[in-house]
Amino acid sequence: MPNYRIAPSILSANFAKLGEEITAVVDSGADIIHFDVMDNHYVPNLTIGPLVCEAIRPLTKAIIDVHLMVEPVDRIIPDFIRAGANIISFHPEASRHIDRTIGLIQEMGCKAGLVFNPATPLYYLDHVLDKLDLVLIMSVNPGFGGQKFILEALNKIRAVRKLIDATGKDILLEVDGGVKVDNIAEIARAGADTFVAGSAIYSAGKDNDLNRYNTVIAALRSELAKV
Ligand code: DX5
Ligand code: ZN
Repeated sequence: MPNYRIAPSILSANFAKLGEEITAVVDSGADIIHFDVMDNHYVPNLTIGPLVCEAIRPLTKAIIDVHLMVEPVDRIIPDFIRAGANIISFHPEASRHIDRTIGLIQEMGCKAGLVFNPATPLYYLDHVLDKLDLVLIMSVNPGFGGQKFILEALNKIRAVRKLIDATGKDILLEVDGGVKVDNIAEIARAGADTFVAGSAIYSAGKDNDLNRYNTVIAALRSELAKV
């Protein structure tokens, strides 16, 4: 069985108590904190920046996986690395020089990922896949949590799985958008190993149920154990 990783997206967390929300998912078994950065330009929404990354960094040893939905990307990358990001992913459409952006991230000691929107072709991987640490397949259009999983993403995940396996390298294959308890196993069968889940985790159960994140993360893992 691959080493599956669960990455709660803090986009759906209660921002009034973000620190507690992060500690709670990590204590409940999350492996990665997925940090969605939106700029009201590349996507029609506005979220959080390096200051918030810096503020949450001391709270956890978990990997902070920064998903940049911003354009342009290069200027803001060093700020996120200084703020403690472990992985930075960007969209090819948002960079003038994709290879240069990957280098910029890695030269500062961070891992680099390339993100594919539902309609973005995979040929952007053609000359850079070997350099990447992660490929992120969007299974919704970026900008908002709580959207429905786009089934075509499964075909894309299958295709990327083959490409990654052919490199023989340890490159994560992450999926983001509409991941739930009832579809995570099918997504894993398609070849994903890292699962972003925002609303599925942060909207689970009742607010006063202290075990709600534990329960939903355990349910996601038990589905993965069936794969
Ligand atoms: C969408 C973000 C996702 C989103 C996932 O632009 O990149 O990370 O928060 O949320 P759910 O799991 O609710 O689809
Ligand atoms: Zn994301």
